[in-house]
Amino acid sequence: MARMVDACGEQCERSAVHSQLPGAGQRLEKMQGHWVLARAGKRVLRPGGLGLTRRMIDALSISSDDRVVEFAPGMGVTARMVLRRKPSRYWGVEREPAAAARLESLLPKGTAKIVGAQAEHSGLLGACASVVYGEAMLSMQTPQQKNRIISEARRLLVPGGRYGIHELCFRPDGISEAVRREIEVEMSKEIHVGVQPLCTAEWKQLLEQQGLKVIWCGEADLDLLEPRRMLQDEGILRCLKIVCNVAKDPVLRQRILAIRSIFRKYGEHLGAVSMVATRMESVAGLPS
Ligand SMILES: C[S@@+](CC[C@H](N)C(=O)[O-])C[C@H]1O[C@@H](n2cnc3c(N)ncnc32)[C@H](O)[C@@H]1O
Repeated sequence: MARMVDACGEQCERSAVHSQLPGAGQRLEKMQGHWVLARAGKRVLRPGGLGLTRRMIDALSISSDDRVVEFAPGMGVTARMVLRRKPSRYWGVEREPAAAARLESLLPKGTAKIVGAQAEHSGLLGACASVVYGEAMLSMQTPQQKNRIISEARRLLVPGGRYGIHELCFRPDGISEAVRREIEVEMSKEIHVGVQPLCTAEWKQLLEQQGLKVIWCGEADLDLLEPRRMLQDEGILRCLKIVCNVAKDPVLRQRILAIRSIFRKYGEHLGAVSMVATRMESVAGLPS
């Protein structure tokens, strides 16, 4: 009897978590690529994996003295890593209601608060944070939205505060316009999100135009769906779960293989970049 109750409880919990996943109720064929990966069981959704995230967190040197804002926490993987450093406050700004609700229920109450909003209009008080970061979210924005989000990061930071990004990048820096357009069109078609990465030098320029001085930069390959990276990011048990989920569902399998094949096709020209920049005191032409 106890086993039956346990099994039922586990089943209910599993379906509750599943129905809380972003994109629940949406057809897999139409779903944005990152939520397809989440549906398969993947939790790490940024291009450079946990390795590049760890390097970014180290470069941000988050400690208990910091008040942290994360843009687009998604499945909450980096949020948990950062919360282990015991910052005095943590706000996650997530626009997808199902992701925001799931995070709200998973993250510890007290220090952590989830704000359901667009990063560019977080609604948080100016200069409320000493650290702001976001991963795998600027690359899917238009140039105007990228600027608005970076400007919001600057508004939230105290002077001297740190802003971290971890995004897709084109490589090398001088890549031709024709190749860029081809990659953007093909990726956007498979991922169902408008993907607009930049070269490393362009990411740096974008930050510096907004009064942020880049103090650290790291790069990685786009191996998000390669077996070795999957093992490093998700661990053996979650990888087995992902393999089972993908084996059981032909549409899920087709979507994931199509995304991986785009990553492989353009692997030479696509990578991951992370940067940490500090907010300069005052810059002519920018709000102080
Ligand atoms: C590819 S996922 C990355 C999630 C997480 N940062 C990670 O790296 O695992 C993209 C995330 O960005 C969120 N997002 C995209 N644009 C946003 C915006 N303007 N404001 C807030 N969240 C946004 C999506 O809802 C989703 O959670």
